[in-house]
Amino acid sequence: MAPRTVSVVNMKGGVGKSTTVASLAEALASEGIRVLVIDLDPQSNVSMMLAGQDRWIELRQSSRTIDDYFNQYVYGGEPRFFRDFIANRVSDISGDMALDLLISTPEFRYIERHALEKWVSQGFDIRQLNTRFSRLTHSAIENVSDSYDLVLFDCPPGISMFAEAAIELSEFIVIPTIPDYVSRLGIFAFRKRALRSMEQRRFTDDRIWTLITKYEQHNALHQSEAAMLKEQFNVFDTRIPQAEQIARAAEWSDQKRTLEQKYGEAALVIRKFAAEFRERAGLI
Ligand SMILES: Nc1ncnc2c1ncn2[C@@H]1O[C@H](COP(=O)(O)OP(=O)(O)OP(=O)(O)O)[C@@H](O)[C@H]1O
Ligand SMILES: [Mg+2]
Repeated sequence: MAPRTVSVVNMKGGVGKSTTVASLAEALASEGIRVLVIDLDPQSNVSMMLAGQDRWIELRQSSRTIDDYFNQYVYGGEPRFFRDFIANRVSDISGDMALDLLISTPEFRYIERHALEKWVSQGFDIRQLNTRFSRLTHSAIENVSDSYDLVLFDCPPGISMFAEAAIELSEFIVIPTIPDYVSRLGIFAFRKRALRSMEQRRFTDDRIWTLITKYEQHNALHQSEAAMLKEQFNVFDTRIPQAEQIARAAEWSDQKRTLEQKYGEAALVIRKFAAEFRERAGLI
């Protein structure tokens, strides 16, 4: 069976997209689900979180990055299979987990421009470029579809051709958001884009899910905004709290650790979120 495909995306920066991808991937993988995380953000945050800096450097030196994957189509050369770019068994969580990763690097920010320059000079227009990136992403996932139950895309803030491609092929979209006024405005704008993509595939809007992040239980604004979000959007019951342990978990540990050791008290919420996600995505 083909894997479920999910994009974690929000135009707004710093809302917890990468943290959501890393913690969800770890929780699900610890439950035996085979997960592939694809980092579409040149900031490489989720790559660092899940692989650690040393392995990230190693992967980069051996040309196993998302830039290298797309570069072979922009610059030509002997193409390699998508699966050869993937780092197997990442994360510092203990146990035998099938959690794999395609890292990005800061250079990934240039590939879009290089591709544009090259392909536009060959007579392609923007729409055709979009289609081309979408097709490449699609065939990449097909190349590994037997190996995973879930493919998770960590998208950059703002919008890029790659994020567009991920949205267009994803069956579900998770929009992490901080419950405040400015963030809620951001969702309205972005949700339209997500909705268009769902409608093109005759999917309904119940595949677009909002996740409340950095929630402060005693903050009256957070309480009222969370209630408002719940009225207006399809929101996960689980709210990810603002927690020091969650921020600390981003740092790689050379010692393997359990999810509970890594996330402290927040591990419980992360497991709860993973259970709710499984149910919604049909990953039973
Ligand atoms: N629940 C949380 N509690 C405390 N800190 C958090 C939480 N979630 C995320 N953070 C911290 O907030 C910052 C932004 O988080 P993260 O990088 O996941 O956001 P993002 O949406 O991926 O950002 P970007 O838009 O830059 O990609 C990081 O320093 C992260 O450690
Ligand atoms: Mg991020």
